Amino acid sequence: MSSESSWPLLAVRDIRKTFGGLHALDGVTLSVNEGDVLGLIGPNGSGKTTLINTISGLIMPDGGSVAFKGHDLTRKSPDKRVHVGINRTYQVPSPFHKLTVWENMIVAATYGGADDVDIENLLRRAGLHEFKDREAGRLNSSQQKLLDIARALATSPKLMLVDEIAAGLNPKELSWLAEWLLELSSAGIALLVVEHLIPFLQLITTRVVVMDVGSVIFEGDIASATQDDHVIEVFLGRSK
Ligand SMILES: Nc1ncnc2c1ncn2[C@@H]1O[C@H](COP(=O)(O)OP(=O)(O)OP(=O)(O)O)[C@@H](O)[C@H]1O
Ligand SMILES: [Mg+2]
Repeated sequence: MSSESSWPLLAVRDIRKTFGGLHALDGVTLSVNEGDVLGLIGPNGSGKTTLINTISGLIMPDGGSVAFKGHDLTRKSPDKRVHVGINRTYQVPSPFHKLTVWENMIVAATYGGADDVDIENLLRRAGLHEFKDREAGRLNSSQQKLLDIARALATSPKLMLVDEIAAGLNPKELSWLAEWLLELSSAGIALLVVEHLIPFLQLITTRVVVMDVGSVIFEGDIASATQDDHVIEVFLGRSK
């Protein structure tokens, strides 16, 4: 049998998910290797969040498989996946509003089961240390997004799924966030980053997967994606 290192970190194979008659995911296959920063783009409703939900275990797919380092996780619960090293952020963060920032971090660290998490340091890096005693529900939306990253990191992930973190951040926050994500990547955390803001994505990676109506329509570098007929048609509603 092959060693763990010969498997991709994440292997998603032919994932299918329907809601009623709607094919939200229609056979999606992709891989993320250790150290990768992979962008995931696509128009609204193309299935990006649904894909993240199936990888993180929030929803079960109707078909296909999700494997992490060669181990099948398709039917495993979200907490099992957190324990092997997969965590995610949310398009709309929902921290425990009545708990403080610090308490939210403690909950996340406990959930992750890691005993060596440096919460002080994570909050400093997130720019939230001065708000550590504030109720999370009283943070503004940018701060809640940063807390969402910090909470995910408190579980010591090896793969972090980031769902549209950049929307609504100002240019200074965006470049600071890009720096943080690159730092995480250098520290060995692989990232799958769903994003509409291509200039932001270009700060952190050259590689993208493009989805449309539940299917992968392009995989390659961002520069080629912007020249691809199908991608142009999907985004601009016209041929090149
Ligand atoms: N729980 C659900 N019940 C019914 N339909 C759903 C559910 N979740 C998603 N969908 C539908 O599945 C499709 C894919 O949605 P999804 O949220 O994955 O898209 P997305 O690519 O993340 O879009 P956006 O860029 O707007 O966030 C959409 O048509 C959406 O309405
Ligand atoms: Mg989404």
